[in-house]
Amino acid sequence: MYIENIKLLNYRNYSQLNLSFHPKINIIIGPNAQGKTNIIEAIYYLGIGKSHRTNKDREVINWDSENSYIKGSIVHNNGKRILEIGLSKNKKKIIKNNGVVLEKMGELLGKANIVLFSPEDLKLIKEGPIERRNFLDREISNIKPQYYYGIIKYNKILAQRNYLLKNMVKQPSLEDTISLWDEQLVEVGSRIIHSRIYFLKKLNNYINKIHREITDDLEDIELFYQSNILKSQEELKDIKNIFKEKLTKGRGLDIKRGVTGVGPHRDDLKVNANGIDLRIFGSQGQQRTAALSLKLSILELINNEVGETPILLLDDVLSELDEMRQKKLIKSISNAQSFITCADENYLKHFVNKEKNIFSIKNGQVV
Ligand SMILES: Nc1ncnc2c1ncn2[C@@H]1O[C@H](COP(=O)(O)OP(=O)(O)OP(=O)(O)O)[C@@H](O)[C@H]1O
Ligand SMILES: [Mg+2]
Repeated sequence: MYIENIKLLNYRNYSQLNLSFHPKINIIIGPNAQGKTNIIEAIYYLGIGKSHRTNKDREVINWDSENSYIKGSIVHNNGKRILEIGLSKNKKKIIKNNGVVLEKMGELLGKANIVLFSPEDLKLIKEGPIERRNFLDREISNIKPQYYYGIIKYNKILAQRNYLLKNMVKQPSLEDTISLWDEQLVEVGSRIIHSRIYFLKKLNNYINKIHREITDDLEDIELFYQSNILKSQEELKDIKNIFKEKLTKGRGLDIKRGVTGVGPHRDDLKVNANGIDLRIFGSQGQQRTAALSLKLSILELINNEVGETPILLLDDVLSELDEMRQKKLIKSISNAQSFITCADENYLKHFVNKEKNIFSIKNGQVV
């Protein structure tokens, strides 16, 4: 799929912008702080319903305006779809698909498949477990909207349970209520664990081939789900019972600490190369390469699951890679529509002889 055009009104530093895109390569070039990432962000916003840089919707509205508007048309294998987002500083955001208002934000997911690749993604392996869990949650939600609702629900239940735990010292009678929340935590949490394991299993079908290619056959890579509940993947069918048991066993400690000690909110994604845990033992270069492979494997997965290539947004990624990896990256994305930002004309050398649009950005305008 590809995005054919976009219209922005009072979005960040763009008071008004209309762009038509190339179905394959789109290069957004310009000095720092001119609005390159803002375009990437607006495309992401249109597909996902929120910014990748902030959770506060109002931040993307132009400082001097009350409202902001994004519109774009997405071309699929079987037709075209118009998406619109209206933002207001003091009203709820409105999302429309072909002119029809969507009731819930989750309904937008899957209407345009977008894979964003930013310098933060390259740090994923060495960062903390929270970033890796967020990564899993974001990517799975894009493919499976129910998962997104599951995460929201789980976080609500968890917050409730933690609230009760903190108050139990004063009110021991709350223990019965906790048991009720435990049931729900296990129900929703087990589905999350299951989806994450299943997702990584599928990624493992793609990632090694990609990784061997990038490392010139030097490394084999494998992804693991590190659960604080399940010791091995064979236990997956008993997941609910084991979760319940651990939760009950840990309740004493949970009450003492005022937080829930076990569950998918404590899990992690582990990446091994040649049998070695890259987070602990990998060099910076190995970690970044593995992160690159991880992202590219998602591209391939969506391609196969959805039957269409997703739209790829590469924000400032080229400058983070050496020339060999820049080349491999560009080669492996050649089937998808891609948006590539760079501050330097140097990178244009990768795209000579290729069909493309180049947008030169200066101070919120295309020049
Ligand atoms: N809500 C807003 N209203 C108006 N301007 C904004 C708003 N939010 C951010 N900006 C401005 O947008 C400008 C461009 O931001 P952007 O992140 O797109 O730059 P960039 O071209 O990607 O730069 P870099 O090369 O450093 O990544 C910034 O200078 C910022 O001050
Ligand atoms: Mg930028």
